[in-house]
This record gives sequence, C-alpha cells and structure tokens, in this order.
Amino acid sequence: MTKKKLVVLTGAGISAESGLKTFRDTDGLWEGHNVYEVATPRGFAANPTMVLDFYNMRRKDVAAARPNAAHIGLAELERDFDVTIITQNIDDLHERGGSSNIMHLHGQIFEMRSVQNEETIYEITGDIHVGDVDEQGHQLRPNIVWFEEAVPMIEIAAQVAAMADIFVVVGTSLQVYPAAGLLNYAPAAVPKFIIDKKIPYTSSIHNLTVIEKGAGEGVQELKELLQAYK
Ligand code: APR
Repeated sequence: MTKKKLVVLTGAGISAESGLKTFRDTDGLWEGHNVYEVATPRGFAANPTMVLDFYNMRRKDVAAARPNAAHIGLAELERDFDVTIITQNIDDLHERGGSSNIMHLHGQIFEMRSVQNEETIYEITGDIHVGDVDEQGHQLRPNIVWFEEAVPMIEIAAQVAAMADIFVVVGTSLQVYPAAGLLNYAPAAVPKFIIDKKIPYTSSIHNLTVIEKGAGEGVQELKELLQAYK
C-alpha cells in the first residue's frame, strides 16, 4: 500500500523545548537583537564581526541542544506516512531526531558559503571569523537566508505542499513570507493540522484542526489523530 504524503512545515517553536530560543516570543532572539543588523546583507556589510558572532553563538547553542519529543515524533510518523519536513529552522534537530526527508527553507547553521558564490557550500562546525575566505579570497558567511534575500527552495517547497495528502504546521508564527504562504498551497480538501502553544492567526483555511499545545505534547496528539488517516 502506498503511504499518504504528509507534509510538515515547522518553525522555531518546534525547537523551543530543546532549549533554543524562538524569534518573536517574549525573550525571543529578535527581542534582544535588531533583525536588520544581524539578519540582512546590509547588516553584514555594515558590521560583519557582530553578525558572524551572532551566528557563531547560534551554532554553539544548536550543537549543545538535543532533539525533543516533537522532532522524534515526526520522525516516527515515517512508519505510516511518506513524510516531508519543510523547516524554516537552521538547526539540525529534525535530522538528529531521525527524519529522513528534510528541506531547509532558510539554510543551515552548520553550512557556510562565500559572499560571492551561493553554489559552493562548505560544512562548518566551529566559528567563522572576518578574514576567513574561500579559494577565490571571498569572505565566508553562514549559508542562511537573510531578510531581503531570495528563498531558493520556495518553489520546490510549494510543489511539495501542493502534492500533500495531509498538511501539518508546527511552531511557527506564520509571519515570515514566503514560508508562511505554503499553507495556502495545500489543496482545500486536504486535512490540515496546526500545533502551536499560541495558535497564530490564519485567514480562513478549510479542514483545519487546531492543537493549541506545546510541540512535544501536540505532536503526540497529532500521531493519535492521524491513525484515522493512514
Ligand atoms: N511549542 C509549540 N510552539 C511554540 C513553543 C512550544 N514549546 N514555543 C513557542 N512556540 C510558537 C510560538 O507561539 C510562535 O507561534 O512558535 C512560534 C515561533 O514563532 P517565531 O519566533 O516567529 O519563529 P518562526 O515562525 O520560525 O520564524 C520564521 O523568521 O526570523 C525569521 O528566519 C527566521 O525562520 C525564521 C522565520
């Protein structure tokens, strides 16, 4: 029997229970930082040391974090469903939680590239400093999609969303486009679930089940509800 396609869009809220800060909650990352200073090409040009330090810190936080019940629960759904995770997160907790099919819309903290070349990507586990360059002498930067930059994966992600038999959203405020728009690509007839400890506003979405819980508990409830859709 072919498995149904389960597409899951995740955001920072899924990693909150692993100890990683979200962006827009109270005490979130954007409360302590000016997003234009640390997460735009302009900000990087103006103060590269500060921006690299910000992401060096994020990389250390991610390395120290462990996947939580929500990451692991989504991986376990692969037993019954053909699962694709579309994550806005730059952490690798879905990978370490056991999911096998993951798209990183906003890049990955353990990757870097030069400021000139988006194509050649290097792995990085330590820090990046001003003066660290590629073979052509261009400064290296995290391979992360900043504000004011294109989201190269969005078209393929929209195609994946349009093919979904079931669509799930976990732990995102749905404030950042184009990622937030993916929910609208899932066909109207498709069952949709949204898990968040504080459900974000969505315009009218058909067939939407709301699970207003933390990610770990919410994914557990989702797994029970999905038994009926196998
Ligand atoms: N369980 C479930 N949801 C949670 C939890 C939790 N334990 N803690 C917080 N949340 C929810 C919040 O209620 C909120 O809806 O997670 C969401 C986090 O929203 P944001 O901080 O806006 O994060 P996200 O939606 O992933 O941000 C999108 O913005 O700055 C950019 O590129 C960055 O990918 C990021 C994008």
